[in-house]
Amino acid sequence: MNVTPFWLAGRPETGDGELTVTHPYDGRVVGTAAVPTPAQVEEAVAAADAIRKRAAALPLHVRAEALAHVSARIAERAEEIARLITAENGKPLLWARGEVTRAISTFRFAAEEARRFSATTQRLDTDPAAEGRMAYITRVPKGPVLGISPFNFPLNLAAHKIAPAIAAGTPIVLKPAPATPLSALLLGELLAETDLPAGMFSVLPVPNDRASALVDDPRLPIVSFTGSVPVGWAINDQVPRKHVTLELGGNGAAVVLPDADLDWAAKRIGLFSNYQAGQSCIAVQRVYVDRAVYEEFVPKLVEQVGSLVTGDPWDDKTQVGPLVSQDAAERVEAWVDEAVAAGATVLAGGTREGATYAPTVLADVPADAKVAREEVFGPVLLVQPVDGVDEAFALVNDSKFGLQAGVFTRNLDIAFRAHRELDVGGVVIGDVPSYRADQMPYGGVKDSGVGREGLRSAMADYTEEKVMIFTGLLL
Ligand code: SIN
Repeated sequence: MNVTPFWLAGRPETGDGELTVTHPYDGRVVGTAAVPTPAQVEEAVAAADAIRKRAAALPLHVRAEALAHVSARIAERAEEIARLITAENGKPLLWARGEVTRAISTFRFAAEEARRFSATTQRLDTDPAAEGRMAYITRVPKGPVLGISPFNFPLNLAAHKIAPAIAAGTPIVLKPAPATPLSALLLGELLAETDLPAGMFSVLPVPNDRASALVDDPRLPIVSFTGSVPVGWAINDQVPRKHVTLELGGNGAAVVLPDADLDWAAKRIGLFSNYQAGQSCIAVQRVYVDRAVYEEFVPKLVEQVGSLVTGDPWDDKTQVGPLVSQDAAERVEAWVDEAVAAGATVLAGGTREGATYAPTVLADVPADAKVAREEVFGPVLLVQPVDGVDEAFALVNDSKFGLQAGVFTRNLDIAFRAHRELDVGGVVIGDVPSYRADQMPYGGVKDSGVGREGLRSAMADYTEEKVMIFTGLLL
C-alpha cells in the first residue's frame, strides 16, 4: 500500500515514520500516512512564520480563487472523497457524502467571505476634540494558526480550520486526528494545486504525544482545537497568553412541547441521536418531552429508532455504522450497563457487536448516570417526561455543557424565551440541536468551549482590529 505523503509548506514529503489507518467496521488497513520528523515539523512552523506578512498582504482575489478551486475540486472528486471518509472513519456513506457536500460549501463560503473581507471607516468628529479625524479599520491576522482537527468529521472540521485561515490571510499548520489523517491530507493535495504561496499551509499527521510542542510554539499564536473536553481545556491552560478557540463536547438536548409536530420530532430525534453512531458533539443525547404528549411521543420515537438501518457503512442504505473503534463501543456499553444497573429502562437497543453499538433509547435514567451527565459520543438517547417549559429548560441547562439545543415548538414566544434562557451557543427551533449550517456561528459555552467557528466568525477569531487615524480632514 502506498504511503500518503504529508504536506510541508505546500509540498508533499515523507518522514521517517508511518501511521497505519484502519477501517473501524472490520479492522482492515485502509491507508498509511507518512509522519513528519521533528525537523520537518520545525521547517513547517518556520515557513508559516516566515510567510506571515506576505500572507496577510495576499490579494483577496488570490485567496478567494484558491478557496473556490478547493471547493470545486472537492465537488469533482466527491464520491472518491466520501469513500475515503468512510474508509478511515467508518461512518456510513450516507453521512460521508453529506460531509463532502458540506465541505464544498465550507470552502465556497470562505471564498465569498474572503471577497467581503474589507476595511471599515469610522468618523471621529462626534466629539469636538476629534474634528477633522477619521479612523480606517482593518482586521489583521494575529499570526499563524495551529489547527487541531478531530476524527468525527475528518474532512469538514479540517476545512473549518483551513478555509477561514486562508480567507483571513494567515498561514496554518494543521494537525489532523491520528485515526483519520487521510481526508485532511487530501485537502492538502487540493490546496497544493492552487497559487497559494509555499508556507501558507502544512498538514502534518503528528502523533498526539508530540502535539504539546506545537501548542507551546510561540510562532503559532492561535490554537484552534476541536476535540475532547479534557484535552481542549488542558491546551487552554498550557498557553493562557495565546488565542485559543475550543470546540469541545456536548450532551445535546431536545425539548418536545405539546404544539410540536410529533411525527417530525420523533423522526428527527431518532435519526440525529444516531447519525455517525452518535459521534457528533451536537448529536441528540437527552430529550425532554412535555408530559401531555409523552405517552404519544415515546412509541413514535422508539419505532423510529428501531427502523434505522444499521450495519455495513459501505451499504448505501445503512444509517448507523460502527463507532471509531471497538474500545469506543465498549465504553458506551459500559456506561449504558451502569445506567441500567442503577434503574434505567432500555426501550430500544442496548447491545454491542464489535465496534457497532445498537441505536439505544433509555428511560428512567438516574440524573447522575454518566450517560446523562457526560458526553456519550455514541448512539444513546435518554427520554424523560417534564411538566412544561420551565422544567424542560431547567433540565437542558442542568449540564456542564452548552453547545446547541433543539426546541420543537411553533410558539414564537417560547422560541425567543429559549434563545434568552438556554445556556448554549445555539438554539434550533423546530429541529434537533444537531442542525449546523457551516456559514453560521457555531460554538459553545461552559465546558463546550470558547470561540466560534463558521467562516466569518472564525476569521474574526483569527484576526484583530487595527486602526489608522487620519487627521485634518474636511469631512
Ligand atoms: C462537532 O461534532 O463538533 C461538529 C458538528 C458538525 O459540524 O455538524
